[in-house]
Amino acid sequence: MQTFQTLKDAPAGTIKNGTKVLVRADMDVALENGNIAEKYRLDQMLPTLNFLKEKGAHIILAGHIGRPEGKPVKELSTKMLKPYFDEVFGSDQSGRLDNSGTGTYELLENLRFDPREEQNDSSFAGEMSSKADVYVNECFSTSHRNHASFVAITKLLPSFAGFRLEKEVETLSTVIKNPARPLVALIGGVKIEAKKPVIDKLIEVADHVLVGGKIGLGWQVETTSASPANLLLPSDYAEMQKDIGPSTIETYRKIIMRAKTVIWAGPMGYFEDEKFATGSVKLAQAIVDSGAFSVAGGGDTISFLDKYGFLDKFNFISTGGSAMLKFLAGDKLPGLEALGYAN
Ligand code: 3PG
Repeated sequence: MQTFQTLKDAPAGTIKNGTKVLVRADMDVALENGNIAEKYRLDQMLPTLNFLKEKGAHIILAGHIGRPEGKPVKELSTKMLKPYFDEVFGSDQSGRLDNSGTGTYELLENLRFDPREEQNDSSFAGEMSSKADVYVNECFSTSHRNHASFVAITKLLPSFAGFRLEKEVETLSTVIKNPARPLVALIGGVKIEAKKPVIDKLIEVADHVLVGGKIGLGWQVETTSASPANLLLPSDYAEMQKDIGPSTIETYRKIIMRAKTVIWAGPMGYFEDEKFATGSVKLAQAIVDSGAFSVAGGGDTISFLDKYGFLDKFNFISTGGSAMLKFLAGDKLPGLEALGYAN
């Protein structure tokens, strides 16, 4: 059986002074007027980047921002991230965008400006691989995509999972396969089609699945069969159904207080308006107070945790949104399979 190839277990001498390492980096961060609005994903790559830097590797950063659909879009240029990476690699280093230099690091342009990236095109992978000796995937959040910088490239270079990617896989597989119990899942948000597969899976493995947000409303409408006993839907709502109501909060809070592991994906209400943040705030506080091992993920959940000061109170915040949900639902992620991971 093929084993998961990680940077930690890479054979001695794989990365040494001057080794050219192509890092599939997690650059899909929120930008505002050309500035980085939220850099959680970038920061999570630092242990791998620093490790490579200390080994004296020449680092080629390759990633995407947004969905430019195969053509250049100025606002989605990776140039926006250059100040961040210049700081990581030191101001005396050259962060080049033209791939021509021999600086300590190079920052490639948004891979999705080329349509071949999303087509998993081997010629595109060939162009990327010709720049490097080794490939490292440090982008869990897009590893559910069958794209050239995740899959085709691994056929051309010795390939490894970065430290953060490995940690994502390790943590998320433990909470789903071998959690301290009771395991409680709190699932909210807006898009029912994105959450349905993970709810179905969590019903099988979790002791309690607590549903809130807009999908709580949708669930009642969409599902015809009787709910399993471990699935709870809101019994009341706040004004205009924009948050869960006090009685639901209290029921969920009591269950959370007994949990040993909590997985949270999706806010309970329209938290952008403080009036409708009560459900999310009270349950976030319950998760912290419970002392359970807490895992959260997804863009909106991270924004909520950040806005209300909970981000550093959780044990693990996944960089993945869809990737996390798919992983938890037991789907195979092409970028992980390409590194030999079998779930
Ligand atoms: C994400 O933000 O979840 C990843 O960057 C994947 O983005 P995508 O849905 O555009 O592939």
